[in-house]
Amino acid sequence: MDQNIVWHNYAVEKSNRTEQKGHKPCVLWFTGFSGSGKSTVANALERALFSQGVHTYLLDGDNVRHGLCKDLGFSDEDRVENIRRVGELSKLMVDAGLIVLTAFISPFQAERDMVRNLVEDGEFIEVFLNTPLDICEQRDPKGLYKKARAGEIKHFTGIDSAYEPPINPEICLNTSEQSLDDSVQQLLQYLKSKNIIG
Ligand code: ADX
Repeated sequence: MDQNIVWHNYAVEKSNRTEQKGHKPCVLWFTGFSGSGKSTVANALERALFSQGVHTYLLDGDNVRHGLCKDLGFSDEDRVENIRRVGELSKLMVDAGLIVLTAFISPFQAERDMVRNLVEDGEFIEVFLNTPLDICEQRDPKGLYKKARAGEIKHFTGIDSAYEPPINPEICLNTSEQSLDDSVQQLLQYLKSKNIIG
């Protein structure tokens, strides 16, 4: 980092924004295989929170890779950089007072822990979509598993690229065993139990 760049303190702080919004900020970090339900659950939860007047923002891998991360592919190195950028962006959005929902495969524990350490204690909520790979592959909503099995896509998570399940996630969901509404209720209950929302 350039030594001539000095941190500047802001006149309006996170605590002021939290008070204004009437809820606490946090990041709900959805992780799991492609097709595990990350985007579906995150979208449904965002809708529920939004309807309660909560200020939210959803960052989704498929969309962020069209802009902020469009120069990145799917090597381990690029995935690490993808999560680093999204982590820093999430941190800024948490500072802005938002409840941030992120839907990235984010296959490595080290990068998920890195994001956890970027924000304050309790602000990082790791949500593991524990849907088994064979179910994700059966669903194959984008036809990508089929292409990966045919060797048309290389380094596909679960096929020829690693996924490290979370060691100690705050929340575990299995979308092959529970309904979408159950998942949303479980997440809302968690947020209430931690006094993040009222
Ligand atoms: S991450 O590993 O860097 O966290 P990210 O969530 O941004 O991945 O992107 C995953 C999405 O990109 C998948 O849902 C899928 O639609 C698409 N994709 C394309 N190629 C791959 C690949 N090789 N591995 C996994 N997902 C891929």
